[in-house]
Amino acid sequence: MDLDGKKALIFGGTSGIGLSACELLRDSGVEVVAISRDPSKAGERTGIRLEKCDVRNPESLENLFAKEAPFDILISAATGGSRASGPFLKMELSAYQASFDKLWGYTNVVRLGTEHLTEQGSIVLVSGAPARRAKPGQAALASVGGAVEQFSRAIAPEIAPRRINVVSPGVVDTPMFGPESDQRQNMLQAATAKNLIQRAGTPEEVAKAIIFLVENDFVTGTTVEVDGGWILS
Ligand SMILES: NC(=O)c1ccc[n+]([C@@H]2O[C@H](COP(=O)([O-])OP(=O)(O)OC[C@H]3O[C@@H](n4cnc5c(N)ncnc54)[C@H](OP(=O)(O)O)[C@@H]3O)[C@@H](O)[C@H]2O)c1
Repeated sequence: MDLDGKKALIFGGTSGIGLSACELLRDSGVEVVAISRDPSKAGERTGIRLEKCDVRNPESLENLFAKEAPFDILISAATGGSRASGPFLKMELSAYQASFDKLWGYTNVVRLGTEHLTEQGSIVLVSGAPARRAKPGQAALASVGGAVEQFSRAIAPEIAPRRINVVSPGVVDTPMFGPESDQRQNMLQAATAKNLIQRAGTPEEVAKAIIFLVENDFVTGTTVEVDGGWILS
């Protein structure tokens, strides 16, 4: 896909990985709409239009899609809701189940958005490295991420020639881990100390993989890992 002059909707585009994807797309000549529950958190961003919508609300999504259609690029990096961590046998089942808000958000976006996507359009979702290799305490993250990746593979044949792919990040330095602070940096350092690449990734490093999947017309139904070697560590 030649990006210049295209239009993109990015859910979760107001922070972290999604915001970085918005900036790269804008710099490539794309009309960019960044969407989240509280888009003001992105601040003033030249060339990025901000819209408010909760991916868990189908009616609100339908209204937004009808207003913005047609578009060529549909991305969701929205975390969706809370993420449960800790040993599965000690976890509140409600917390485990609530982690699936991320999956329901993604499936809402794809279900309601694909009909407005141009025929050569491209969808990218964001899973997470525990989907392929879970460490103790990551049963919820692994289950949700695995479901996101399998969902993408399952529907790729249904929506062709439109394409759908997933990026799977390892530990990435974003506001998902709270506001910038020494505490956040120490936590990220500890979490990546045994990886092949012993640091957290940057949002831009993950966003570049999103752009690759949008641009490359020969890729569909696959997952690209950008994880600092998490899977081999
Ligand atoms: N950072 C990591 O280490 C890491 C690792 C593996 C996977 N991931 C995945 O990567 C994706 C992006 O994460 P990130 O690190 O960039 O997180 P982030 O900086 O916290 O950004 C999350 C974005 O999602 C939006 N969002 C959350 N719930 C939403 C909802 N219900 N409706 C609409 N928008 C919603 C947030 O805005 P509002 O709060 O305004 O809605 C925000 O724009 C997520 O799917 C995350 O699970 C991240």
